[in-house]
Amino acid sequence: MRRGTIIFLVINLLVIGFLLNAFSTLIGLLFEDGSSDAIHRAEIPAPGSELIDNRTQLIPKIIHQTYINESIPAQWKAGQQSCIDLHDDYEYKLWTDDLSREFISAEYPWFLSTFDSYRFPIQRADAIRYFVLAFYGGIYIDLDDGCNRRLDPLLSYPAWVRRTVPTGISNDAMGSVPQHPFFLRVIESLSGYNRHWVMPYITVMYSTGPLFLSVIWKEYMDVPRPAEEHVRILMPDEYKGFKWSFFNISRGSSWHGKDAQTIFWMGKHWVLLTVAGFAIAGVVGLCLWSLWSMWVMRGIGGKGKRGLWRRISAKERYELVDRMA
Ligand SMILES: *[C@@H]1O[C@H](CO)[C@@H](O)[C@H](O)[C@H]1NC(C)=O
Repeated sequence: MRRGTIIFLVINLLVIGFLLNAFSTLIGLLFEDGSSDAIHRAEIPAPGSELIDNRTQLIPKIIHQTYINESIPAQWKAGQQSCIDLHDDYEYKLWTDDLSREFISAEYPWFLSTFDSYRFPIQRADAIRYFVLAFYGGIYIDLDDGCNRRLDPLLSYPAWVRRTVPTGISNDAMGSVPQHPFFLRVIESLSGYNRHWVMPYITVMYSTGPLFLSVIWKEYMDVPRPAEEHVRILMPDEYKGFKWSFFNISRGSSWHGKDAQTIFWMGKHWVLLTVAGFAIAGVVGLCLWSLWSMWVMRGIGGKGKRGLWRRISAKERYELVDRMA
């Protein structure tokens, strides 16, 4: 092989290695189904079953929800009321924007500057749920998730989140004891993930939303831990859709923007996009290769052009190659 070819291949391998390393958690997430920590269907007593009272309840009986202020929009009122009505022995906390800021300022002052710096209100709504779970414990429920049955069986796990298809976990329904190591890690990680990613949807997803939570979860899972530190996984059928499921969704998603539609489209066509990704990578690789050969290999035969294409003497060529290597 020519020396130039070898250098080209080495540089490409380095770049690929760097990318794989940078995205290893995201790639790992694609293959993580959470089954090792799944809450099995058979271990959840049916609604009203007397088995429910025999189980130890670890999570405090508190339901947390968030909204801008106390005026809950009509489309979410029924869902909110269904959770309150089913749990009259639970404490109910609605975290409005004002209350959330007061709470962060009083209990987590080191986070206040990040909290205030968020560009999108939904980032604050995402962040506050992790803090209140870490502080009080309880169950957080999105306003568009209504309750289909009492949540008592889910109080028996020190921490749980719900699995989403095809990959990752969501932050729309989660439960935890106070000071659970997973949620402590989540609140500690938020500031480092407060970055801007061109599209608002990706920025929100990856700074505070489900993608952020999934990445922290994947990293957390990759370290062996004692049973009580595991985050148990509520599977899709137990989440919604059946008589025994815990939640009941009245979708009024807060996402209507163009980039949300783009992301949903990308989600549906991910096989096509992956193939296209490889094709583009191949074309880019070929282009780089031909540029490389023109720049370095063809130097000797050049016709005295200026700049990139100017004539490169044999000596210069080797110096150049050595510098690149
Ligand atoms: C609550 O927020 C909504 C949306 O910003 C606003 O329209 C409404 O007037 C607010 N209600 C109160 C009581 O401040």
